[in-house]
Amino acid sequence: MRAFAPGRVNLIGEHTDYNGGLCLPFAVEQGVTVSVASAGGDALEVHAMTLGEVGLFELESRARAEGWRAFVRGVLAELADAGVVVPPARVWITSELPIGAGLASSAALTVALSLALLALTGSSALNRRELAALCSRVENDWVGARTGLLDQMACLFAPPGEAVRIDMASLEVAPVPLDLGRAVLATIDSGAPHEHAASGYNARREECAAVCQALGLRSLREALPEDVERLPEPLSRRARHVLRENERVDAMVAALWRGDVEEAGMLLDASHASLRDDYEVSTPEVERAVTRAKEAGALGARVVGGGFGGHVLALFPPDADLPGDALVVRPGRGARLL
Ligand code: GLA
Repeated sequence: MRAFAPGRVNLIGEHTDYNGGLCLPFAVEQGVTVSVASAGGDALEVHAMTLGEVGLFELESRARAEGWRAFVRGVLAELADAGVVVPPARVWITSELPIGAGLASSAALTVALSLALLALTGSSALNRRELAALCSRVENDWVGARTGLLDQMACLFAPPGEAVRIDMASLEVAPVPLDLGRAVLATIDSGAPHEHAASGYNARREECAAVCQALGLRSLREALPEDVERLPEPLSRRARHVLRENERVDAMVAALWRGDVEEAGMLLDASHASLRDDYEVSTPEVERAVTRAKEAGALGARVVGGGFGGHVLALFPPDADLPGDALVVRPGRGARLL
């Protein structure tokens, strides 16, 4: 039994997922492949092939673990809680995704592992939305990373060769063409250490929760622009980013349907300005990476993921001379059994 789950790039719609907003990711070609085969005993013997490591996981145990082992522990525990009885097995994990490159390698690992183990048990207990939520709980509760649902939903719902508009309030998904002609999308590493990323991310989530509390809303998705403008700073700016970013997602969807690459670039720039000035998740290193992209002729470039360092996504016109460290990203296929 083999399952594949891709990494993802979020074209636009940043810091909207945990606000019941809109996102527009696509699956990349690279991902994580997990093979499983039944075995004797009472454990899962897991070979992390890319790392050259092996771990033994007793099926009944709820012990905590570190590093990649935390993901395996979490998947086993969450599957058990969902009533899925995983039998003893051997598991082989290989990854083509660079870790920490902003391509959501963690979500790809949890999704591929869960799909492979579910196939082994023959269980159809979970649909894809439930599986996305399960994999997100693995990251939140077992790995200790407070993230939204973007990465898991992107991985599980991205249509082949296209982007997917995800409405995080209803979890409705809609395919969107990603035909950029000869233009290319690429990510660039800012090289900034990620030390403060988690605390910064959590601080932004708390500010969004404070906005909801002040306005008596369940989610920022329901906020009205005029109410947001009356809030004290910095809450007003934070909420403004989220509201306008949702609008930019739909503007990007419209631009892609028209095949308007110039407009797509402008929307990336507008998103970045908002993430830098209103949401304040950029850093000097990120700004330098954006400048490098623009100097290489990018039509648009923006910080991606949680921010506070990390990567920049840039849209380059045909025949541009990309920075040497740029990683070209192309739309691939969503998670599946092989
Ligand atoms: C991180 C999280 C996602 C999302 C982005 C910001 O990458 O993992 O869930 O919140 O930040 O859009």
